[in-house]
Amino acid sequence: MNTALEVRDLSVSFGGVAAVQGVSFCARSGEVLSIIGPNGAGKTTVFNMISGIYRPDAGRINLHGADVSGVPAFRLARSGLSRTFQNIQILADQTVLDNVSIGRCRWEHTSLLADLFRFPSVVAQNEETRRKSLMALDAVGLAQQADVLAANLPYGDLKRLEIARAMASEPTVLLLDEPAAGCNAVETDAINDVIRKFVAADARRAVVLIEHDMKMVMAISNQIVVLNQGQVLACGSPAEVRGDERVVEAYLGVQSAEDAAHAAD
Ligand SMILES: Nc1ncnc2c1ncn2[C@@H]1O[C@H](COP(=O)(O)OP(=O)(O)OP(=O)(O)O)[C@@H](O)[C@H]1O
Ligand SMILES: [Mg+2]
Repeated sequence: MNTALEVRDLSVSFGGVAAVQGVSFCARSGEVLSIIGPNGAGKTTVFNMISGIYRPDAGRINLHGADVSGVPAFRLARSGLSRTFQNIQILADQTVLDNVSIGRCRWEHTSLLADLFRFPSVVAQNEETRRKSLMALDAVGLAQQADVLAANLPYGDLKRLEIARAMASEPTVLLLDEPAAGCNAVETDAINDVIRKFVAADARRAVVLIEHDMKMVMAISNQIVVLNQGQVLACGSPAEVRGDERVVEAYLGVQSAEDAAHAAD
């Protein structure tokens, strides 16, 4: 299997606080790799470095074998990287379709003149944007809501809309930051299904998933990286990670206690 995304010894500090220290992992094409760990472990910070939002203090990022360390976010989209955000970032006063179309900008080439006089190339491009955006909406089960205002979507649909926007850029590496956070069991299953189908549709694709829902993580992941206090605590298959005492102590034990408390509520 080919390497889709590799990070090596990634580190960043904020005001002397080491948020991420020497993190390495490798997501292969065809795989779902999950990053888990307690709040503040550095998971989103790793995504922010991979996606060019933060510049790492040290380390390297390779996308399909090309060094993309320090490459800004808008260029990374053209290299096949796309992501969602932990906090929903949707334009509430735009339609569902318009929100997804934003994800197509990687493919759009335009000029003021061509736009002004509606050159045939502009018309064709707009048509392509619409077609591909509808395909992305269809993949997450939201095609029927294309013309609905995003503000009118329920929370679970907004989470899927975010994924559709990220998928609309036709990425080969998709980073999902807590896609199922706040979702009920049915919505979580739907997201699970979207991720599986996305990976299965093209042999080059990989998903890197940050998620606290351990049932989902254990079911969908080929590999799991456990972060704790900015460092990799453990890495392996779901069975290996579940059986690792350090992981149970630092994270899974806490999660189980929280789950039990919620169940008792
Ligand atoms: N821009 C920033 N400036 C200062 N500190 C930051 C910044 N970004 C992240 N941090 C710090 O880095 C640490 C890791 O934060 P991060 O958001 O990556 O955690 P996380 O694992 O994603 O947590 P959660 O599960 O709560 O989302 C935290 O201590 C956080 O306060
Ligand atoms: Mg986070």
